[in-house]
Parts: sequence; structure tokens; C-alpha cells
Amino acid sequence: MKSDTQKYGKAAQALHWSTTVLVLLMIPLGIVMTRLSDSTDPTALYRLHVALGLIVLLLTLVRVIWRFVDTPPVPLTMPPWRQLVFKTVNAGLYLGLILIVLTGLTMLIGSGMVPVPSEVVPNEIEDIPPRVAHRVLAWVFIVIVLSHLAGVISYQLKKGDTLGRMLPGRGQPGRS
Ligand code: HEM
Repeated sequence: MKSDTQKYGKAAQALHWSTTVLVLLMIPLGIVMTRLSDSTDPTALYRLHVALGLIVLLLTLVRVIWRFVDTPPVPLTMPPWRQLVFKTVNAGLYLGLILIVLTGLTMLIGSGMVPVPSEVVPNEIEDIPPRVAHRVLAWVFIVIVLSHLAGVISYQLKKGDTLGRMLPGRGQPGRS
């Protein structure tokens, strides 16, 4: 279950990939549901978005707790500037995820709704700061996710098997 010096453990891998799948569904879902024509009722999509968002919240809480229990593999070998970018993007992923979920919850609570799917009524969501923040954060988060992806691909092509550390099976340590 736990990570060793070279690879993430099964629990960290499961948390990483399940969150990835959910986030990759949440982003297009959020974009589409807020841009439907007036003749289409967005309620079902909003409720699905909130349901998946609550699962992301749960996974993120478990992930933060697991991060304290589990020691991640040794950092990849890379120059200091790249190490800094890597750490900043990683922190952005954690912080972005937490803030995006919190603003989603507070937008609904601030609009007088219990933040569970069955209570969400799209046209009763008020124009309050958490709503604006959620929409802005969603786009900032997309940039952070793309930066993470670009970093992984570039390391994988030029340096070593970083992806293998997060996949079941045997991974290769990075080259300097
Ligand atoms: C991984 C977590 C999440 C991601 C990636 C995400 C992403 C998005 C995106 C891309 C939008 C559309 C933004 C735009 O219109 O430009 C959106 C809107 C929305 N999200 Fe999320 N979201 C997440 C979590 C949540 C959670 C946890 C809730 C509530 C519990 C929530 C509630 C909403 C609502 C109600 C809207 C519509 C806002 C409006 O009508 O203006 N989201 N989200």
C-alpha cells in the first residue's frame, strides 16, 4: 500500500488516478452546464457536477491525510530551477483542488442551499463572491493541470520514467 523510495504505493496511485479521472470529467461538465441554451434545463448536470465534486472533496481529504502517513519516493533528479517549478505546480494542484471545492460548497451554502445534489437549483445560485471565485479558480486550475501534464511529458521524454513511479509495475528511476 505504501510508497517506497522509487515508486508511489498502491494507495497513492489509486488516489491520484481516481482524482484525475474525476477532475477531467468535472472541467468539461462545468463548462458545458454553465453555457447551455436558455431552452435546456441544466439542473441534472449541475447536480451531477456537485455529486462528483463531493467525491473529489472526500478523495482530497483522504489524500491530504495519506500524505502525512506515507513518505513519497525520493524526488526526481533535476536542476534546482526545475525542482522549484515542480514544487510550485504540485502545491498549486493541492491548493487549487482544495480552494475550488471550498468555493463550490460556499457558493451553494451562501445561496441558501444545502450542498447536496438533490438540493441544487441552478437559477437560485446567487451572484456572490464564491461563485465568481469558483469560476476564476476553475480556469486557473486548468492552467495548473496543463503545466503538470507538460512537466511530466517533458521529463518523461528527456530524462527518465517519472510516469512509471505513478503506475503499477516497475518504474525506472530518473537520470540526472
Ligand atoms: C475538482 C473540483 C471541481 C472542478 C474542476 C470544477 C470545475 C468547474 C468549472 C470548469 C465550472 C464552470 C466555470 C465557468 O463557467 O467558467 C464550474 C462551475 C460550477 N461548479 Fe464546479 N468544479 C469543481 C468542484 C465543485 C464543487 C465541489 C461544487 C459544489 C459543491 C461545484 C459547484 C459548481 C457550480 C454550482 C457551478 C456553476 C457556477 C455558475 O453557475 O456560475 N463545483 N465548476
